[in-house]
Amino acid sequence: MNPEISASAERALPGRMRAARRDSYGPPSVVTIDEVDVPTPADDEVLIRVLSSSVNPADKYFCLGEPKIMRPSSGWFRPKEPLLGLDAAGVVERVGAGVTDIAVGDEVVGEIGASWAEFATAKRRHLALKPPSVDFEQAGAIGVAGLTALQGLRDKAEVRAGDRVLVTAASGGVGHLAVQLAKHWGAEVVATCSTRNVEWVRALGADEVISYTSTDVAAVRPGFDVIFDNAGVFSLKEGRALLNPNGRWVLVGAPHAGGLLGPARSLIGKMIGAKLRRVPLLSFVAQSNAEDLATLAELMAEGALAVTIDRRFGLDEASQALQHQLDGHAQGKSVIAIQEA
Ligand SMILES: NC(=O)c1ccc[n+]([C@@H]2O[C@H](COP(=O)([O-])OP(=O)(O)OC[C@H]3O[C@@H](n4cnc5c(N)ncnc54)[C@H](OP(=O)(O)O)[C@@H]3O)[C@@H](O)[C@H]2O)c1
Repeated sequence: MNPEISASAERALPGRMRAARRDSYGPPSVVTIDEVDVPTPADDEVLIRVLSSSVNPADKYFCLGEPKIMRPSSGWFRPKEPLLGLDAAGVVERVGAGVTDIAVGDEVVGEIGASWAEFATAKRRHLALKPPSVDFEQAGAIGVAGLTALQGLRDKAEVRAGDRVLVTAASGGVGHLAVQLAKHWGAEVVATCSTRNVEWVRALGADEVISYTSTDVAAVRPGFDVIFDNAGVFSLKEGRALLNPNGRWVLVGAPHAGGLLGPARSLIGKMIGAKLRRVPLLSFVAQSNAEDLATLAELMAEGALAVTIDRRFGLDEASQALQHQLDGHAQGKSVIAIQEA
């Protein structure tokens, strides 16, 4: 029971809640659904009743505890944070003393950690108001993937109208949003995905779609202003050959790998090689902020951006959701329905 919450409540809240939890690193089967305390928001936080959350590649790394390079922050022998989840949408139930521009009852979207749970806290700066016309399922899936597509294309690649943009792994959570954003900004988009996703990715707006399962993507017509590279499978030579002289190659992701460095091994290796060989390769890690979340929410409200829902899981199916992510063949975003509105 959490006495502070029920004492100050405008509407009584339970002291305990259901959450997806694991106390050790391991395969998705280590995740159980347990009763835990409802968290208390700090002064700069709000408490959110979570309605919908989503599944991201990072969830599988936090579950597995791999690559091990992340363990100084996530916990050496067991996870410091036993709960899972990185983004969500829901309704504000309590606000911390320092939060003045969000109120109880507001509907919010954002990067909300530990959100595979009925309630979660988040810092105000990681939240935006959810437009009424955007449903919770869509909003709950936009956080990590949307910020990555937005910041990668706008800030790193500096995509402009008329640019010719190659989006790899366009069928994934980040890629399918990147296709829509690049088209919205007036770029010509060439996308790669596996054969089964070609028609769907074309319907998202891509001008040309190439199946990486039946075509050598490195051999496509060169002359790209931007490579927005979610798949991370091109060699430096292949990537450079695809670019215009002033082109930018933004490395977003790399194939799943375990060990000490995991995908960071290929990312670091490529970044060092690119410096030495003067390949215009840029890496970045998306950062959560309220302004960009509000931009994404507006784009969704005006119909410029929509999440394709791959699979829907209930909270009880958290370990199946993780296994689906581990299998590595996302078609858009998978979501976890937490509570009814
Ligand atoms: N830098 C950052 O801040 C940041 C943030 C979020 C994510 N990431 C990283 O970015 C990458 C993409 O994330 P995500 O959320 O989109 O992952 P995701 O939803 O799991 O999607 C991965 C997609 O990659 C496709 N794919 C696999 N190999 C491919 C290849 N050789 N060519 C083209 N497509 C291929 C898969 O589809 P098939 O069925 O076709 O194989 C799947 O649709 C991941 O590596 C992730 O860790 C980076």
